[in-house]
Amino acid sequence: MAKEIKVGVVGCGYWGPNLVRNFRALPDCQLKTVCDLSEQRLAHLKSIYPEVQGTTDFRQMLAGGGLDAVVIATAVSTHYPMARASLLAGKHTMIEKPMAGSSAECEDLIAIAKRKGLVLMVGHTFLYSPAVRKIKEIVSNGDIGEIRYISARRLNLGLFQKDINVTWDLSPHDISIILHIMGEQPLTINCCGSTHINANVEDITSMYMTFPSQKSAMIHSSWLDPRKIREMTIVGSKRMIVYDDVAPLEKIRVFDSRVERPPHYDTFAEFHYAYHYGDVYSPYIRQEEPLKTECQHFLDCIRQGIVPLSDGNQGLELVRILEASSESLKRGGAPMDLTVHLNGHKLNGNGWTRSLPPKAARLATARKAPGRVAAKKYAFPAELKRPGISFRLKKQADVRPQA
Ligand SMILES: NC(=O)c1ccc[n+]([C@@H]2O[C@H](COP(=O)([O-])OP(=O)(O)OC[C@H]3O[C@@H](n4cnc5c(N)ncnc54)[C@H](O)[C@@H]3O)[C@@H](O)[C@H]2O)c1
Repeated sequence: MAKEIKVGVVGCGYWGPNLVRNFRALPDCQLKTVCDLSEQRLAHLKSIYPEVQGTTDFRQMLAGGGLDAVVIATAVSTHYPMARASLLAGKHTMIEKPMAGSSAECEDLIAIAKRKGLVLMVGHTFLYSPAVRKIKEIVSNGDIGEIRYISARRLNLGLFQKDINVTWDLSPHDISIILHIMGEQPLTINCCGSTHINANVEDITSMYMTFPSQKSAMIHSSWLDPRKIREMTIVGSKRMIVYDDVAPLEKIRVFDSRVERPPHYDTFAEFHYAYHYGDVYSPYIRQEEPLKTECQHFLDCIRQGIVPLSDGNQGLELVRILEASSESLKRGGAPMDLTVHLNGHKLNGNGWTRSLPPKAARLATARKAPGRVAAKKYAFPAELKRPGISFRLKKQADVRPQA
């Protein structure tokens, strides 16, 4: 029998109880403690799981619980301090999406987890969904040809958040799916949006990302729509996939549709696009709760010492995209270059490069990934240290010796 892993869950609001239910039901796992500031939420969970300990004090849960692992399902602004405390206390840590409020915070958590040899996982739940895994399989097999673009819509009425906008709330799901399917990082991103209910918190946004080889993706997120829509279309050069996550059956449909442009023609009469309309089929998808698979994966990673599918680095990449989206929103939808982080380019207070002039942008695009990799290890030259940046570096330097 495998060694029992003792788990504590902090945050028992809307999403936390789903994590509690799953960890409680998994074999070789003991859900030992639940934590929430709200006595009422704790009482509710204790009424369902009387054997589980409850506390309103997160520090107490860390210090006294005898836990191996901690799962964090609180508001985004609390992810970093809680995850940091959890890792420093030697606990394997799973954080709900998005991983933290800034990329600097994510980098710090990754460094602590690495130094302490702990599993750090982020709740990119859809990567564990049978439908997304099937799409990945279809795309990887080459069945739809080369991806041309992906478009996603995640809309519903509410739930309005006050501390994060709709991009930070809803789009992490779409971004994580898109990065997983594309298998590469975006080159640029721009984001437009508007605010209707809470001042300064965008409730509808539209994000556009470009990828290598002319691929692109667009994501429409909204808290202001009468219907619940979770839809994604993946357009390939040979076929197209429509993924409807709220459909009870046939969540995925593969359309044998394409359009081809003749390579050359001699007269106008010969010029016509070839539209192909073929069969539509719906592959079988296993019925399985993605969150259960995700929770089991966290336990497997702890037990076997393996890197999670949605590890800290994935969380960081996603937060970088969210940061760039916020910066783009501030600049009225201006494109943000994700390939050249620092070297020789102007920085704003959040560490983001301004959009580059066309020639520089072309050069940057040609260099692609190396720019990103180098950026992670980059030391800021003195002339680039602006208030926002030096604060972040100072914060990291301050916390490290304590780890
Ligand atoms: N993976 C998914 O599909 C999914 C779905 C929904 C939400 N989420 C994520 O889950 C997280 C929580 O979202 P939610 O909608 O459940 O929020 P929520 O506000 O409903 O619940 C958060 C809970 O955390 C508690 N809390 C806050 N600070 C605390 C502290 N210091 N100590 C103890 N408890 C504290 C609050 O009392 C509250 O009950 C967010 O990161 C969100 O993005 C993920």
